[in-house]
Amino acid sequence: MLVESKISQVNMQAVCQQTQNLWQKRQHKVFVFRANGDIKDIGQFYQSMAKQLGEIQMSGEDVTLGDRNVQRSGQLWSQVCYDPQFPNAYRHSLNAQPLHTDGSYVENYDCTFMYCIRNSTVGGETIFIDSQAIIDDLSTADPELLSQLTSEMMVHSRSGQTRKQKVLTALNDSWFVNWNYYCVSTDLNEQQKQLVSRFQHYLLNSPGIKANTIAVKLAPGDAVLFKDDQLLHGRNAFEATEVAQRHLYKCGLQVGKPLGQNQ
Ligand SMILES: [Fe+2]
Repeated sequence: MLVESKISQVNMQAVCQQTQNLWQKRQHKVFVFRANGDIKDIGQFYQSMAKQLGEIQMSGEDVTLGDRNVQRSGQLWSQVCYDPQFPNAYRHSLNAQPLHTDGSYVENYDCTFMYCIRNSTVGGETIFIDSQAIIDDLSTADPELLSQLTSEMMVHSRSGQTRKQKVLTALNDSWFVNWNYYCVSTDLNEQQKQLVSRFQHYLLNSPGIKANTIAVKLAPGDAVLFKDDQLLHGRNAFEATEVAQRHLYKCGLQVGKPLGQNQ
């Protein structure tokens, strides 16, 4: 599931090449890049790396533009930056963020690339669970819920975009997942509403989910790239006393082949 590489000014191209090769292997889903300290301008470095890794998606969002439906900025990067003036936005709060996919409401969203400027907090790890681990756990913990998640279409909407997709889809020997509790459409029937509550409750409380979730703490200069639709990710809560004490930038990239529309 997780591949960790050391990255520096001098080996970036080789690391990109290696990452693109490993990307083809379905068992590799999270790529962590650990900086060696020689990166002078972290933002410029990862901007350049993002372009080498894949096709960049101008899917940036900006909380200062308004509510959740009008936050598309037309920019590449979104800031994930602790700022207590936005307590209700996960990108800016210090709360634990439940497991989700970033592309829940975006068609053909492939992967997320995120780099760290600062993270001098207690907690704040990014967490991941493999879609296969969810399937394995659900098959014994709640097969009925698994059956519903693999058969019911679910609509997610935000920022003027909508995506209709089953929460769990098997394709080419892999399990794809599309889920964000906070972006599920408000226009659902009673059965769908129950399914949404039940799955979120399961994710928050299942011992199997907890046991199979891995945590990655990024340090300044580090980055992570992950297959958004083949795992769920989230964040541990953290303690912070000043603005930008945890400060990351993230963007959407097209590295591999995303799950097609309405599969
Ligand atoms: Fe996310």
